[in-house]
Amino acid sequence: MGRGVSAALPGPVMVAAGCGGTGRELEPFCGPDGLAGLDLATRSITLDARAGGPGPRVVEAPGGLVNAVGLPNPGLEHFLATELPWLVRAGARVFVSIAGATMGEYADLARRLSRAPGVAGLEVNVGAPDEVGGGLFEVREPFHAASVIAAVRREFPADRPVLAKLRPDVSRVVESARACHDAGATAVVIGNSVPAAFPDGRAGGLSGPALAPITLRCVGVVRRSVPAVPVIACGGVHDVASARTYLAAGAVAVQVGTALLHDPTTVARLRVALDPSHDLQEDA
Ligand SMILES: Cc1cc2nc3c(=O)[nH]c(=O)nc-3n(C[C@H](O)[C@H](O)[C@H](O)COP(=O)(O)O)c2cc1C
Repeated sequence: MGRGVSAALPGPVMVAAGCGGTGRELEPFCGPDGLAGLDLATRSITLDARAGGPGPRVVEAPGGLVNAVGLPNPGLEHFLATELPWLVRAGARVFVSIAGATMGEYADLARRLSRAPGVAGLEVNVGAPDEVGGGLFEVREPFHAASVIAAVRREFPADRPVLAKLRPDVSRVVESARACHDAGATAVVIGNSVPAAFPDGRAGGLSGPALAPITLRCVGVVRRSVPAVPVIACGGVHDVASARTYLAAGAVAVQVGTALLHDPTTVARLRVALDPSHDLQEDA
């Protein structure tokens, strides 16, 4: 399915950014092959380490979670020295998610990651639910997101994919997808958590099955309006049926996030169910 569009694109199943831990936490739940051949977006990596936000960072909501984790990560140097080599040794196809406070930071991250062995591609986080509160570069306007993508694309080899991870905001998503694709994104990931609030009013993002109809609408509208743009659906995937719904709507791949926090075997089960060779065996 996904690989029919481009051999370099992930698919049909991928781990969503921030939901597979460092990879080590997920590995025991991935079956006999572990992470081998698994497409995985890392948690978002920033130039400097981030401690993450105050607790509680995650609370349950009807149909999902509200989270404000604050992108905790060890910073680029530590990631390059420890997490990345481990993921590469484990055989994962690593798409490093990057986030920056400035356009220059995004470019710097892309330049340094372009030289790191084993990076299959980048996923550029231009869709965080509250980038300003989180100290990230403001990308509310599609042309801001596209400028970030252009800056990253200039620093990253043309034969490796750059994925633009957008907000699932139906009023802007077509414009964002078109602008980011024109700026050099190989595909767009739709989307991130939806801006929401904790019971005490603190800003966060909603994730999980509650997002499925929103994601589906965004995927559908982008596929119809800008069919040249490959779409990776992210938001609300929780079982084989939900993944198939997005693929039927034209997504080249799906990402699994919150479902992994409930059941870390989800990605392994979806890989088996959606793998084309497995389908052929079933049909035979
Ligand atoms: C605990 C948690 C941590 C996350 N961390 C990141 C992150 O580091 N970078 C990012 O782009 N998205 C992050 N996300 C968003 C997910 O990758 C995904 O876009 C979102 O949760 C919607 O997908 P889902 O409904 O399958 O969870 C995080 C989500 C959760 C719940």
